[in-house]
Amino acid sequence: MNIPDIIIAVDGFSATGKSTFAKMVAAEFGFLYLDSGAMYRGVTLFTMESGMVSEDGTIDEAALRPALADLDLHFAHEDGKTKLYLGGRCIETEIRTLAVSSLVSPVATIPFVRNYVDDRLHAFSEGGRVIMDGRDIGTTVFPDAELKVFMTADPAVRAQRRYDEMVAKGEPADLEAVMKNLAERDYIDSHRETSPLRQPEDAFVMDNTHMTLHEELVWVLGVIQGKFGLLEVPALTH
Ligand code: CDP
Repeated sequence: MNIPDIIIAVDGFSATGKSTFAKMVAAEFGFLYLDSGAMYRGVTLFTMESGMVSEDGTIDEAALRPALADLDLHFAHEDGKTKLYLGGRCIETEIRTLAVSSLVSPVATIPFVRNYVDDRLHAFSEGGRVIMDGRDIGTTVFPDAELKVFMTADPAVRAQRRYDEMVAKGEPADLEAVMKNLAERDYIDSHRETSPLRQPEDAFVMDNTHMTLHEELVWVLGVIQGKFGLLEVPALTH
C-alpha cells in the first residue's frame, strides 16, 4: 500500500455522508476510522440516561462535568465495523435515534464536553493512519492533518438520505422532522462559540449531491495522488 500514514480530517454539515465516505476510505486504504459525532452522541445518551436533562431540555452541567472524568466511551472494531461502547455496552443503535439527534448539538456546545471528546480522539489516533469525521476536525482537533476534506450537499438530498437510512433500519421516520433536525443542528453547529463548524482554508471541498460512492473514492484518490505525488495507487474495490 503506498498511501502514507497520514491523518485525514473530514468535516461538513449534518448528513452529508461524511461517515459513509470516511468508512469507505478507511476500508480501501487500511486506515482507522474514528467518528467524532458518535462520541458527542454517546455523551448525549449518557446525559439523558443519567437524568441530567430537565423537561425543558436544560442540561445539568454541574452534574455532567465531574461525571465525564469516569466516563468510558470507546470504539471497538468488530467484523470490519467500528462500534461505540459505553463501558461494556454497545450503544451504536441508541445513539442514532432522533431523541439523541435532537439534543446532541446543544450538548456539543459545552466547552468541557468538547475537551473530553478531543482528548479521547487524540488518544485513539496515536500513530496516525486515521480518518476522522466531524465538524471541527480540520480546524481544531487536528489543525495539522495532512489532508482535509470538507463535504457539502443539497439540504433536501441530505434529508432524504438520512430518512432512507432510518427507514432501512426499520426506525420510525418523518421526512419533515428529519429536515428540521438537520437545519437546527447546522445552525447550532455553525454558530456556537467553541470551535464552530467552518470550512478549513486548506480543505478540499466535495459537493456530493450528485456523486456515487465510487465517484467519491476516485475523487479522493485523485486528491491524494496529486498532493503526495503518488504514481501508483491501490486497486479499488468500491
Ligand atoms: O451523522 P450526522 O452528520 O447527522 O451527525 P454526527 O456526525 O453524528 O454528529 C452529531 C452532532 O455532534 C453534530 O450535529 C454536532 O452538533 C456534534 N459534533 C460536533 O460538534 N463536533 C464534531 N467534531 C462532531 C459532531
